[in-house]
Amino acid sequence: MRLGSGTFAACCVVIQVLGVALFLRGFFPAPIRSSSRTEHQAEPPAPEPSAGDRSNWTKLPPPLFRKVVIMLIDGLRDDFVFGCVWGVKFMPYTTYLVEKGASHSFVAEAKLPTVTMPRIKAMMTGSLPGFIDVVRNLNSPALVEDNVITQAKAAGKRIIFYGDETWVKLFPKHFVEYDGTTSFFVSDYTEVDNNVTRHLDKVLKRGDWDVLILHYLGLDHIGHVSGPSSPLIGHKLREMDSVLMKIHTSLLSEERDTLVPNLLVLCGDHGMSEAGGHGASSMEELNTALILISSAFERKPGDIRRPKHVQQTDLAATLAIGLGLPIPGNSVGSLLFPTVEGRPVREQLRFLHLNAVQLSKLLQENVPSYTKGSSAAPTQHATGSEQQG
Ligand SMILES: *[C@@H]1O[C@H](CO)[C@@H](O)[C@H](O)[C@H]1NC(C)=O
Ligand SMILES: *[C@@H]1O[C@H](CO)[C@@H](O)[C@H](O)[C@H]1NC(C)=O
Ligand SMILES: [Zn+2]
Repeated sequence: MRLGSGTFAACCVVIQVLGVALFLRGFFPAPIRSSSRTEHQAEPPAPEPSAGDRSNWTKLPPPLFRKVVIMLIDGLRDDFVFGCVWGVKFMPYTTYLVEKGASHSFVAEAKLPTVTMPRIKAMMTGSLPGFIDVVRNLNSPALVEDNVITQAKAAGKRIIFYGDETWVKLFPKHFVEYDGTTSFFVSDYTEVDNNVTRHLDKVLKRGDWDVLILHYLGLDHIGHVSGPSSPLIGHKLREMDSVLMKIHTSLLSEERDTLVPNLLVLCGDHGMSEAGGHGASSMEELNTALILISSAFERKPGDIRRPKHVQQTDLAATLAIGLGLPIPGNSVGSLLFPTVEGRPVREQLRFLHLNAVQLSKLLQENVPSYTKGSSAAPTQHATGSEQQG
């Protein structure tokens, strides 16, 4: 039997429509969202599950760190820090911190798309922005989703920002002070970074802030213009290394007076391909360096060649716990456990519990068929007394 050409054409059209629909479904997946946290409604944290005695821990644990400095270097691929060709050669101070200092090093894997704005969102919300965000990347609207910055501001933390103005667009009313640099002139890799560093001497001496965020664009610009094998990369890494040293030294000397540890985070938003760009899914674009530095951590010899692989989204939960804030509702990340290793066991369990409750809530809201086993339902039978610690 022969099909008429009309039937054949109709079949083609149907298959095409189905194909496009399937493609769009995969390309713009339904986002994972937690319904309850959309209007930043402060709901009480899950109390500690009681084991025998009544639980007295019904509030969030206090912050682990007094000040947090996030130094984000755009396009900081993992081997720019951990590799022998780059990091070991051009970032001596960072190498020293990784190998001998009180720090934890990770290779943080970014998800697609490896473009700046979705990556900033992923780090601050812990969720996975889709490709739709690339379209929005052009005129980044303010971030309304639950995130660490909004939580920190709500908790009265004073946040200062210098660097890529994308942050100022995402968080228009969150910073007590800011200076945005523009990434419009890709050929400029000096002034964009000088405009950030020029504030450091003054701001590091001041005691009137809790969170300082720096976003350096120069490295990424060098990548776009002359690729990762350009000698300019080495110069830039050396410059970044000395900035890191300046911040670390200052945080340490301040700790001596207050005795409360600070946290310094060195991270990248995405990597850099061998051609110097980013956006796609090669290993070079996905893998970024992530180093947490604090005198709260135990000083033990690290191996610069073998940092642990984690997800970039783990940063949100880790920062939230470090700052004593609720973990953002849509976060799919898990606490980077080495951060709390030095704390008493009960506290460690408390942190893991808070993270687990948040994740299981997100799972329940997004997977209708998911039901919790009775033993893993801490919120249900924790009646908790009103006291806290
Ligand atoms: C750096 O700061 C100067 C003075 O504030 C400003 O004119 C310039 O546009 C800034 N450069 C960049 C790349 O943002
Ligand atoms: C809870 O009670 C125990 C024993 O009474 C006490 O050791 C602990 O410090 C209390 N914890 C908090 C968080 O108050
Ligand atoms: Zn970037």
